[in-house]
Amino acid sequence: MTTTLITNIAELTTNTAEHGTLRDAALVIDGDRVAWVGPASSAPAADTRHDAGGRAVLPGWVDSHTHLVFAGDRTAEFAARMAGKPYTAGGIATTVAATRAATDDELAAVLRRHVAEAVAQGTTYIETKTGYGLTVADELRSARIAGSAADEVTFLGAHLVPPGSDPDSYVDLVIAEMLPAVAPYVGWADVFCETGAFDADQSRAVLQAAAAHGLGLRVHGNQLGPGPGVALAVELGAASVDHCTYLSQSDVDALAGSDTVATLLPACDLSTRQPLPDARRLIDAGATIALATNCNPGSSYTTSMAYCVTTAVLQMRLSITEAVAAATIGAAKSLNRTDIGHLGVGARADVHLIDAPSITHLAYRPGIPLTHAVWRAGNPSTL
Ligand code: NIG
Repeated sequence: MTTTLITNIAELTTNTAEHGTLRDAALVIDGDRVAWVGPASSAPAADTRHDAGGRAVLPGWVDSHTHLVFAGDRTAEFAARMAGKPYTAGGIATTVAATRAATDDELAAVLRRHVAEAVAQGTTYIETKTGYGLTVADELRSARIAGSAADEVTFLGAHLVPPGSDPDSYVDLVIAEMLPAVAPYVGWADVFCETGAFDADQSRAVLQAAAAHGLGLRVHGNQLGPGPGVALAVELGAASVDHCTYLSQSDVDALAGSDTVATLLPACDLSTRQPLPDARRLIDAGATIALATNCNPGSSYTTSMAYCVTTAVLQMRLSITEAVAAATIGAAKSLNRTDIGHLGVGARADVHLIDAPSITHLAYRPGIPLTHAVWRAGNPSTL
């Protein structure tokens, strides 16, 4: 196995209790794993040497919430929203129609293009969802395609009741036919638990059936208004409840007393003219938060984790350390992964070298593409 020494690192964010943040540091990759971290002055020899040039290194971004199996374009919906029209999630049906009409190759190409765009910006681990098929055949096809380029795949057959369907009959279809068909191709199931999508009882039924298939649970909740999504996610021990834009005190208390990660999607809130979630309140209460892009053609068309981190610092009152942690190790926790999101010895070698001496520059220089080099599971993609 080839070893690579990355040295002359001005600031190394490890996200580990053992090493914390190191100055004048080095890191050794052995194959796909981190083999050593410590002061540059005591770094061991390696087969190849990469001079970081006094730049900062942090774990690659973990984007734990995207919807990248889609076709079509919703620019007009976005423009109407910027002119004052509210976001209702009804546009999901537009993407469903375009996705059903697309070929497998077209859907796979869209997925690959967005994953490549994300990796070029420092994302090294990415989740994506089905949810724009909404028939057994189209959800199965979406799940298979998703697995061709994403690290984790989530079944979101309960994204919206397709136009013309009866809600309870559709839930029955999801449980009786979609889940058994799709379960072998996915690790997770998700439900959009929101007024206009699925209520608490319908969401619970889908999630309990998914758990019986051995799938991990995620919930879209409290996005467009207060609702039962967070409470349901905590009740069922979901790994993550995503959006969390409208939280009651009991939602915050429930999250703080649970292992369910509150995944915040600030790019979505900005693009849909919603308030930003109260990340400070969640952290101060003791909840674990993650940041993710929610990249999709309707509510959040960005693959930039840096944009989410910058927003979290500038507009949500997180420290840069908190925001980077949420976009790396917090997001890893939301995917039940302990081998990513940090740069401890033995971690997957997902390394992000930025063109700045410290992570502070991610917020200090908003909008500047700072990614300089990326190693994904030890494989370099120097930019
Ligand atoms: O996370 N909330 C539901 N699903 C997506 C929206 C998808 C769309 O508008 O196409 C979301 O925002």
